Amino acid sequence: MNDQANRLRQMNEMMGASRSAILKPIQTQARVITVTSGKGGVGKTNVTVALAVAFARLGKKVLILDADLGLSNVDVILGASAPGNLFQVIHNGLDLNDVVADGPLGIKFISGGSGIYDLSNLSDSQIQYFLHQVGQFDNWADIILIDTGAGLNRMVLNFVLAADEVVVVTTPEPTAVADAYAVIKAYAAKGGQSPVRLIVNRVRELAEGEGVLNKLAKVSQRFLGLPISHLGFIFEDRMVQKAVTSQVPLMVAYPDSVAARCIDRIAHSLLFGEDLPVPRGIRGLFQRLLARG
Ligand SMILES: Nc1ncnc2c1ncn2[C@@H]1O[C@H](COP(=O)(O)OP(=O)(O)OP(=O)(O)O)[C@@H](O)[C@H]1O
Ligand SMILES: [Mg+2]
Repeated sequence: MNDQANRLRQMNEMMGASRSAILKPIQTQARVITVTSGKGGVGKTNVTVALAVAFARLGKKVLILDADLGLSNVDVILGASAPGNLFQVIHNGLDLNDVVADGPLGIKFISGGSGIYDLSNLSDSQIQYFLHQVGQFDNWADIILIDTGAGLNRMVLNFVLAADEVVVVTTPEPTAVADAYAVIKAYAAKGGQSPVRLIVNRVRELAEGEGVLNKLAKVSQRFLGLPISHLGFIFEDRMVQKAVTSQVPLMVAYPDSVAARCIDRIAHSLLFGEDLPVPRGIRGLFQRLLARG
């Protein structure tokens, strides 16, 4: 970011969100990365939190939005609990800043609650208020990571369809791979166009991860015409579970563990890889979601 934009951003922060619309420099939309899976329990939340820490270490301002309708446990894994959720922002007129939690390394965390999927019955003024509130995060955050539930749920799928960047997590287990394909297929069938990127988690050896990637990439290209790109593998590592138990993020508690190093590589390729998308922000995502009805 150049000095001018940097100074404007600092001024925004000092003067508070209400003035931000006036001072907003061009191109300060946050980059929104949506993490989903076919099968549950494949490591979405752990991957989301670990990527957040990796990005924060690289100097990025990161927000995690928990958009899992079930129990996502971002709070447990991050070690920070949110004082409220988006539902309260929309329906009780709270300010977004009242419901944001502060995690390690300046990472912010907000819980979606059911409000995030319950936008269809809102009045125009509620929508405007909500969009204004989430728009504050486009000024503040460089990257917004969204931990969704498993993507075969219709509401989650709509959310993923509205997103700019989709990361699908699977494990090498055949049921997880089949469900990952089912989600990619549903995404393609509904007109999803963003390139889907794959993380194969809990691999025991490289060949196992490569096998999963090749298989999914081949069938997606052949039957759906949708390219899948490879973000990386994460090795099975008992330090992941140890970190969860201690409620300190893996990347903080065990930064040199095998899994942490895999995450660092994935964070690097997300930040410095090829074909980086133009960020369209979290406000844009919700606008598209609302437009889908
Ligand atoms: N690389 C790994 N090595 C070992 N264990 C892992 C790894 N990744 C995740 N796990 C374990 O897998 C379990 C599920 O992880 P997590 O909660 O992140 O999955 P999820 O996809 O978010 O689940 P849900 O669909 O329920 O939200 C956790 O107990 C976690 O410790
Ligand atoms: Mg989860």
